[in-house]
Amino acid sequence: MATAELAGKHLVLGMTGGIACYKIAELTRLLVKAGATVQVVMTEAATQFITPVTMQALSGRPVYTSQWDARVPNNMAHIDLSREADAIVIAPASTDFLAKLAHGMADDLLATLCVARECPLLVVPAMNRQMWANPATQRNVAQLRADGVETLGPDSGPQACGEVGDGRMLEPEAVYEAIASFFAPKVLAGRRVLLTAGPTFEPIDPVRGITNRSSGKMGFALARAAQQAGADVHLVAGPVALDTPWGVFREDVQTAQQMHDAVMRAVPDYDIFIAVAAVADWRVDHASDHKIKKTADHRLPSFTFVENPDILAAVARLPHPPFCVGFAAESGDLDVHGEEKRARKNVPLLIGNLGPLTFGRDDNEVVLFEASGQKKLPRADKQALASTLIAEIAKRLPDTSLIS
Ligand code: CTP
Repeated sequence: MATAELAGKHLVLGMTGGIACYKIAELTRLLVKAGATVQVVMTEAATQFITPVTMQALSGRPVYTSQWDARVPNNMAHIDLSREADAIVIAPASTDFLAKLAHGMADDLLATLCVARECPLLVVPAMNRQMWANPATQRNVAQLRADGVETLGPDSGPQACGEVGDGRMLEPEAVYEAIASFFAPKVLAGRRVLLTAGPTFEPIDPVRGITNRSSGKMGFALARAAQQAGADVHLVAGPVALDTPWGVFREDVQTAQQMHDAVMRAVPDYDIFIAVAAVADWRVDHASDHKIKKTADHRLPSFTFVENPDILAAVARLPHPPFCVGFAAESGDLDVHGEEKRARKNVPLLIGNLGPLTFGRDDNEVVLFEASGQKKLPRADKQALASTLIAEIAKRLPDTSLIS
């Protein structure tokens, strides 16, 4: 999550009756941490599962539960609360509440403010698998989708009742990601983005190998930002300890050759390629298939290296290449090496930074290199920078890469 990425957003978080209410405490914390203001409104049933006191403490605002709340001077809570909101998020959304929404009922504060709203409505269903599968629920959900209501989830897996199936609520982090994604400008709507990220690992023998200090954070942040911008995203990742960004298809590889093969297989289906991986330039020729042991006479092993394929250059050389973006981490003379590397790899855009210093850090400072010149971007955390870079890439896309 980028610092304050939801700053200025005001959400009405509507809670209805369900055991998943306990997860909304964590969701509220995530939303508040991202800078959103959160007005919690609970149905009577929701207050049976978690108290308004808990939700007030986490949101920092008094919770509303009744249409007849005397704190609202004009006694029109259903109008006042919905007018201030950038979106209403119903989480958890119970079977009963989905039915009410689908039929436009307005028999409590939360249902009434949904009917009276002018802003988007997002629902996060949470229920037993049979309740979810019930034809009436499915009809109601289809109706809500047809009415322009966004449905987030549900997930599949073990349920509070002990059964297993579809209907459980998305985890709070996934709901957060979906909300953040909902608000992001859709500058890559309809585009398909292929990325590489992280280091590669080149084996010496079954237990040893050569790798580098790339954390993968910048590539994963770009994959997340591209997904949020509306793109279909395929991330080919070297060995990293990072969670897959929400909504992104991830393919794990170890070696440069595997990364090359995965990219070349996928690339015909993509119209943007962003090479963020720190690919090992060389690999050990004929890595041993057994652990290399020390010898009694202390003889040191020696290795011959062979060059790995240059993935970015190979993609840029294709007869109909996608829009290619390279990265370069340099330890000095970025101005010279950045432009030289962009021209050598024959890509329209290369993003350069002063390398090893940024590995593993959460922020970065980069320079854009293109044929027409250079542009320096201010230091920012990697997720905020990723959104800026995705916007910069979107501005440069040729019309010919539009998907038919
Ligand atoms: N790259 C790649 N495949 C490689 C090497 C690099 O796709 N085998 C991509 C990287 O993902 C990055 C760009 O090329 O987008 C530049 O990577 P870098 O390692 O800086 O370039 P090299 O060509 O390896 O140059 P250097 O001699 O500076 O290491």
